[in-house]
Amino acid sequence: MIFRQLFDTVSGTYTYLLASRRGGEALIIDPVIEKVDRYLQLIRELDLKLVKAVDTHLHADHVTGLGALRDRTQCITVMGEQTKADVVSMRLSEGEKLTVEGVSLDVLYTPGHTDDSYSYVMADRVFTGDTLLIRGTGRTDFQNGDPRQQYDSIFNKLMKLPDEMLVYPAHDYKGESVSTIGEEKNFNPRLRVKSIDEYVDLMSKLKLANPKMMDVAVPANMRQGLAQDEIARKGWAVTPAQAMGLVGKADVALIDLRERSEREKHGQIPGSLHAPYPDLQENIRPGGMLHELATATNKRILFYCAFGERSAMAVQAAQDAGIASACHIHGGVDAWRKVGGPMTQ
Ligand SMILES: [Fe+2]
Repeated sequence: MIFRQLFDTVSGTYTYLLASRRGGEALIIDPVIEKVDRYLQLIRELDLKLVKAVDTHLHADHVTGLGALRDRTQCITVMGEQTKADVVSMRLSEGEKLTVEGVSLDVLYTPGHTDDSYSYVMADRVFTGDTLLIRGTGRTDFQNGDPRQQYDSIFNKLMKLPDEMLVYPAHDYKGESVSTIGEEKNFNPRLRVKSIDEYVDLMSKLKLANPKMMDVAVPANMRQGLAQDEIARKGWAVTPAQAMGLVGKADVALIDLRERSEREKHGQIPGSLHAPYPDLQENIRPGGMLHELATATNKRILFYCAFGERSAMAVQAAQDAGIASACHIHGGVDAWRKVGGPMTQ
C-alpha cells in the first residue's frame, strides 16, 4: 500500500495520494492547484498512474487541483452527487464505493460543513474532509453549511466507526497530522456537547472571518469544467436529441465509458458496449478493441458517460489516436435523460 500525506502550507490543506502498489493506479484526495507539479512529480517517481482525483467538498480556502490534474493526466474527477462544481466527471453518493485498482473506499455522505461534504472510509482510516478535524470541526456558517446536519454526520456516522480507526482530515492549522475516532470522541472540545441544540449554539457563536481566498476560490472551484464546448466546436459532439436518431443505427457503435457501478445504478442507453474510461488508452491504440472496431467495421464511435466530461476527454484522445469518427453525447446520460432518452437496466 502506498499512502502519502502531502501538505499545502498556504491553505493548511492535507492532500492524500493512495495506491495499492508501485506501477499501479492511484487516486488523490483534495489536491491544491499550486501543488499540482509536486503531485505529478511524486506520481512519476512512484511509477503510478493517476486515475481519479477527488474533492471531499467544494473548498472555499483554496483552488482545487482537480481541473489541472484532469488536463494533465486525463484522470476522472470525482465529487459527491450534491456538488455544483462543473469539473466533476463522476458523482458518488452514500453507500457507493470509490475505487481504483486494489483500493476501495466506502462513500459516506457527511454534510454540515457544506451540503456537498463527503467522507471516505478505508479499512483502517477515514478521510473526513472538513466535517471532522483534529480537535475541531469544520465551520458551518457558509456554503449551505448546517450545524444540525454536521452534528448528525459526526455523531451518527463518523463516531459510529471503530475507535481505533485513523482520522485524516482535509486541514490542520496547528501541526497535527492524524488522530483516531476514539481520541476525537474523548478529547475533541466541539464534541463535548450534551445535545444537538448545544452544538448548534456552540457553532453559531464562533463568529469567524471569511477565508481570505473565499471570493476567488469558490467561483474558481465551481467552474473548472473541461471545455465540452471546445469539443462541440470541433464538430465532435452530438446533442442528446441528435443521439436519439443515431442509437440503434447499424453504422454507429455506442460506447459507455462509465464504471459498472454507475451502469447498475443508473441504467444504460440501449445497445451500448461497455468500455470503462480507465481502459481507454488501451482500447484506442492500434490493436485495441475500439481502434479495431472503428477501422474494421467503419462504424462511427459514439462515446457517452455520466455528464459528458469523460466522453469529451475520450473523444479528444480517440481523435489523437487516429479514430476520426469518434464523437460523444454532449452532457452525457444526465442530458440524455432530460430529453426523454430511454434507459435500460
Ligand atoms: Fe472546507
